[in-house]
Amino acid sequence: MFRDDLLQGKTILITGGGSGLGLSMAKHFGSLGARVAITGRSGDRLEQAASEIDSAGERVLTHACDVREFEQVEALTAAVAERFGGIDVLINNAAGNFLAPTEDLSPGGFNAVVQTVLYGTFHATLSVGRRMIEEGRGGSILNIATTYAWTGSAFVVPSAAGKAGVLAMTRSLAVEWAAYGIRVNAIAPGPFPTPGAWEKLMPTKEMEDHARDRIPQRRFGEHEELTNLATFLVSDAAPFINGECVVIDGGEWIASGGEFNGLTRLPREQLKGMLRQLRGK
Ligand code: HXC
Repeated sequence: MFRDDLLQGKTILITGGGSGLGLSMAKHFGSLGARVAITGRSGDRLEQAASEIDSAGERVLTHACDVREFEQVEALTAAVAERFGGIDVLINNAAGNFLAPTEDLSPGGFNAVVQTVLYGTFHATLSVGRRMIEEGRGGSILNIATTYAWTGSAFVVPSAAGKAGVLAMTRSLAVEWAAYGIRVNAIAPGPFPTPGAWEKLMPTKEMEDHARDRIPQRRFGEHEELTNLATFLVSDAAPFINGECVVIDGGEWIASGGEFNGLTRLPREQLKGMLRQLRGK
């Protein structure tokens, strides 16, 4: 899909890079020549991930950090800059989420998610952005949002509120930091299976089947589909894309809005027959 050296010379920091989609992105970026820094709360998990990204360890750095704590994020970006000489790309991927009736949420539960999703994204963006500005090197920031950032969604209010904030920050900074040569974009994924998200959000086969059934393509996303998109957006192949949020969900969110979209569930020949009858043919 891409030239093997597409990301050669770039240093990419990925929050939540020790597992799930973050790790898939880290592996993909590494395979295209990037130096990769991954962070997450568990040092053990990061070490395991690092061996999967680059077994020689030359182009990978791990640094445990909780993105909810700005001081820890500052220490992280300092370590990456010291090892690799600067940061070209930041992927704000770390997220927290769980299903809960909102009336049963505690303020602490709301905080755990919003602090990770929104504050965590702000902390990393601020720390990396200041460095990019100071060094005059420009760069690219990619935020992982979700389609319910603009529709909202029942039972995930902290995540929906946090992701909506991330989307607003994406568009705001795309304008504000363009003067510094920094592009800010987002991806809004639909369901992509990962152990972490699935355990919290699709705990039963029934829920998984229901979620798949909402997607016009009747399947979930594959990690490579998302990592290809992320690669393109942060690479030098996309210098004029700024302030965009690209949806990658097999048509899921748009399908939930159209008045007659439900007709796609009928066997197509049956539907065509019905419509011919309506026309009197
Ligand atoms: C209600 C809950 C809860 C639950 C935790 N809390 N889980 N409340 N229902 N299921 C509350 C606790 O009671 C506590 O409140 C507070 O949250 C903090 O709990 P901790 O156990 O201390 O949690 P902490 O380690 O800080 O973080 C918890 C977490 C995190 C946010 C749930 O473990 C997490 O998100 N892990 C999943 C990571 C993941 O899968 N990320 C990908 C998400 S995918 P009190 O009141 O006691 O303080 C995604 C995109 C979705 O977001 C797109 C789908 C299409």
